[in-house]
Amino acid sequence: MHSTGFYIGAIITSAVLLQVNSLDSIIALYGETIEVPCNKGAPMPENLMFVKWKYNKAGGSGDLLTKSNGQEVTILAKDSYKDRVSISPNSSLLIADGTLADQNTFTCMVVVQGDVKEYPVNVTVQKRPLPPQINDKALELENGKLTTLGECVAQDAHPPASITWSKNGEPLVHDGKTILITSAVTQDPATHLSTTSSKLEYSAVKGDVGAQFVCTAKHVQGPDQESPPETFTIRYPTEKVTLQVVSKGPFKEGDNVTLKCKADGNPPPTSFNFHLKGQKVLVEDSDSYTLTDVTREVTGEYKCSVADDDSVEDAKNISVNFLDVSLSPSGSIVKNVGDRLEVAVQKNASGEVKVSWTKDKRPLDKPPKFDKLAYSDSGSYVCEFSVAGIKQSRSFQLVVQGPPEIKRLSKELGEDGQHKVLTCEAEGSPQPSVQWSVNGTDEQSSYQNWKLTHKITVVPTANLTVTCTVSNELGMVFKTIDVFSLFEEEKKQEEGEGDDQAKLIVGIVVGLLLAAAVVGVVYWIYMKKSKQGSWKTGEKESGTSEESKKLEETNHKANV
Ligand SMILES: *[C@@H]1O[C@H](CO)[C@@H](O)[C@H](O)[C@H]1NC(C)=O
Ligand SMILES: *[C@@H]1O[C@H](CO)[C@@H](O)[C@H](O)[C@H]1NC(C)=O
Ligand SMILES: *[C@@H]1O[C@H](CO)[C@@H](O)[C@H](O)[C@H]1NC(C)=O
Ligand SMILES: *[C@@H]1O[C@H](CO)[C@@H](O)[C@H](O)[C@H]1NC(C)=O
Ligand SMILES: *[C@@H]1O[C@H](CO)[C@@H](O)[C@H](O)[C@H]1NC(C)=O
Ligand SMILES: *[C@@H]1O[C@H](CO)[C@@H](O)[C@H](O)[C@H]1NC(C)=O
Ligand SMILES: *[C@@H]1O[C@H](CO)[C@@H](O)[C@H](O)[C@H]1NC(C)=O
Repeated sequence: MHSTGFYIGAIITSAVLLQVNSLDSIIALYGETIEVPCNKGAPMPENLMFVKWKYNKAGGSGDLLTKSNGQEVTILAKDSYKDRVSISPNSSLLIADGTLADQNTFTCMVVVQGDVKEYPVNVTVQKRPLPPQINDKALELENGKLTTLGECVAQDAHPPASITWSKNGEPLVHDGKTILITSAVTQDPATHLSTTSSKLEYSAVKGDVGAQFVCTAKHVQGPDQESPPETFTIRYPTEKVTLQVVSKGPFKEGDNVTLKCKADGNPPPTSFNFHLKGQKVLVEDSDSYTLTDVTREVTGEYKCSVADDDSVEDAKNISVNFLDVSLSPSGSIVKNVGDRLEVAVQKNASGEVKVSWTKDKRPLDKPPKFDKLAYSDSGSYVCEFSVAGIKQSRSFQLVVQGPPEIKRLSKELGEDGQHKVLTCEAEGSPQPSVQWSVNGTDEQSSYQNWKLTHKITVVPTANLTVTCTVSNELGMVFKTIDVFSLFEEEKKQEEGEGDDQAKLIVGIVVGLLLAAAVVGVVYWIYMKKSKQGSWKTGEKESGTSEESKKLEETNHKANV
């Protein structure tokens, strides 16, 4: 106090020049410590006596503090600055907890011997707003109707923040028709901070479903701040319905077919009319209708419409596939070899039917046809039919049976020359049994593919005529063979097999001669009959086969 008075006295007495520098200005942040530099932070002159800070005050200026050359600080302020001001080593004025009331001109007086310099600083305090919020949001927007979507508020800023709106990132600009933006700024009477509010009135369109509305607060302090995005329910009437067939096709009889009527309005209608081939059914609180256990009669056109407006409708055709089949014969059937068997397939379906056959699980490339049944035709036949997702199969088990027929009766000299092996081969079904007129040993029998092979070993001590008798439920046949005693056989072996060969040739020659004779006779009869003009082909055929049988027998006898 004492020294300050001395200095001030000195200034006045020395009648110094007062030099005021041009106004400098700084921007400080609200709520933080304001640092007001003296002479832009330039070093203090060497002959510094003291520094004094003052500020503009109604009716003059108010002293804040002084700092002597010896760094001795004296607070001069009596008002609220008393507890908030301090000075830094480089003589900057520090004001704690800056408020808008601190926006003022603070002057740093630098006093040297015989000279006083003043450095006034205009302090501006700024504050960024709180993050913006959208308040008073609309519950929903109606297509084409101007509605207050919400009010965006950016609180407590200085200077006031400005607010912009955007939809899906695109700015919304006030156009006086479909977009109205009204902004207002209010000031807090205590803090003098400003709150900016911006009301958006918006006329929504259908395309705004899911659109994100955001408001952005712009301020000199710091980057733009965005409100959390908001989406709105857009209400619009139904203009179009779509009939969907929800169940997966193609459909067959017995399926359930669910129809769904989708309307493009929001909120969607709650009731619909389903037009089921002329019959109208009202469905409430649902958009679906199920046709259960459909039949081929269900095939046709189906429609749906909004309950209160039948003109808004959609149609779909539904077709139910069907497949009716039958196969004759069916089940297990037994037929005689050589017979004819008619296989008949009948089908009626909603489309082209694919038919495939298998015999004993192996595919057949064409449908079976039995003009003359053979044993090999026996088996399990399955016919598969399919049309548009429907599959059906029919089957029959065929057993071809026939009386036994002896195909061959032969003898063979055993390797050791001490026995003979007799083989009787026959065909027939069911499996025939074999009986020999002699007692043999080493019996071997096999039955495969309806062919029976039966072997016995004999040791003939004398010339034998051996009979092989084959029988099943359908008949019995036998054949004989001459078996010479082993002694005779050995002699024959010595003579060579040429003998047997010669006999065979003779047999064939005799057979050919006979055949020639038969042809001659037949030709003679034919000439005679054709002159009369009545000849039956059947007789000729049976005659021929009769002859060929005789020939075969002759050959066989000769062979043995
Ligand atoms: C003054 O000193 C303070 C540290 O006390 C420093 O942060 C500030 O930048 C200085 N001011 C100037 C203008 O040099
Ligand atoms: C201080 O700065 C503010 C903002 O820059 C300005 O509005 C005001 O007029 C200035 N005051 C003086 C006294 O120059
Ligand atoms: C059809 O729907 C009925 C009940 O509505 C159900 O009992 C039946 O199993 C369904 N049929 C098929 C093939 O899904
Ligand atoms: C359904 O079929 C009928 C007859 O084929 C046809 O006239 C009609 O246009 C079809 N409807 C739809 C919706 O396809
Ligand atoms: C095939 O089925 C349809 C539908 O059930 C029926 O109208 C038609 O008469 C049938 N056709 C034959 C050849 O059975
Ligand atoms: C075959 O053997 C049986 C007994 O073993 C006998 O009774 C029968 O007479 C014999 N038959 C011939 C043809 O030798
Ligand atoms: C067996 O038959 C052959 C040929 O017919 C004859 O030559 C032979 O004498 C006969 N043997 C006996 C033992 O009868």
